[in-house]
Amino acid sequence: MNRLFASLCLASLCFETLSGCSSGARQSAVDAGRALFDSKALSPSHLNAYACASCHDADPLSPASKKAGAPLAGVTLRPQFWGGQVADLLGAVNACRNYFMLANDPLTASDHDAQALYAYLESLEPGDPAAAPFHVVTSIEDVPRGNAPSGQILFAEACTLCHGDMHHGSGRLGDAVPILPEDTIREHAEFTPRVQRLIFIEKMRHGRFLGYGGVMPPFSSDVLSDPDVSDLLEALGMLGE
Ligand code: HEC
Ligand code: HEC
Repeated sequence: MNRLFASLCLASLCFETLSGCSSGARQSAVDAGRALFDSKALSPSHLNAYACASCHDADPLSPASKKAGAPLAGVTLRPQFWGGQVADLLGAVNACRNYFMLANDPLTASDHDAQALYAYLESLEPGDPAAAPFHVVTSIEDVPRGNAPSGQILFAEACTLCHGDMHHGSGRLGDAVPILPEDTIREHAEFTPRVQRLIFIEKMRHGRFLGYGGVMPPFSSDVLSDPDVSDLLEALGMLGE
């Protein structure tokens, strides 16, 4: 399917010339794909606040990322996706559009947008062609106390893009995204501080999955380690007491 996606894209990109792709046509497809990647346009839902770039870095030169999704440079060469749960690239993209961006209709390989997106992702080769690790922490347990200054830095790297600044929410993606930690504490006021701490851990680890709902992505242990989670909770003041 991955190869089918690729060959259909190439066939269509080359339709203007008989002897291979014109570099102008290819470049404009790459540019169109980059614009799609950086915009909300790949979902028609008015509830969607995300671009692909909200959760994925594309630039192979970007430093170690704290975005929940894998860096996508090299993704066209990878053997499998979503930690082995998805076998084809277009299926992996449609999973994100469906789960997070609330798009009901999958893109197909003949869609113009899918072809532009593929051209862009292919332009990022070789990047990292190895399957990206994605270890989901399934059982939620409390973590030891951490370091607040490190947690402040991690919050800026992993949470601010969606939630805005801690305590203020300035710059958050929209009103549906809670200001941390206050909105969440208020929302779960009936629980003890210990349970509220576990809610934060569960949300970071599972996002919208495993019965939680919403549109937040899960952070695997490859992106956020348990010590990172400890530091984040410390910075948020979610000490469980
Ligand atoms: C809200 C966050 C979020 C958004 C928005 C999002 N993704 Fe993802 N994406 C993820 C997560 C989490 C995974 C699973 C971990 C992984 O494999 O990267 C994933 C996986 C993927 C994978 C598989 C990567 C691999 O190597 O396993 C691809 C490809 C992908 N996304 C493309 C896209 C594209 C293209 C868009 C925009 C249409 C998009 N994603 C939007 C979070 C997101
Ligand atoms: C890609 C965007 C995105 C990122 C990055 C993100 N979140 Fe969220 N988060 C959301 C959205 C949207 C919601 C509200 C909808 C939902 O619950 O999924 C949310 C909800 C939450 C909630 C509320 C859960 C509840 O039931 O009230 C907590 C807690 C939370 N996020 C913590 C974090 C922390 C901590 C980080 C950083 C490690 C983080 N989030 C990173 C998008 C994001």
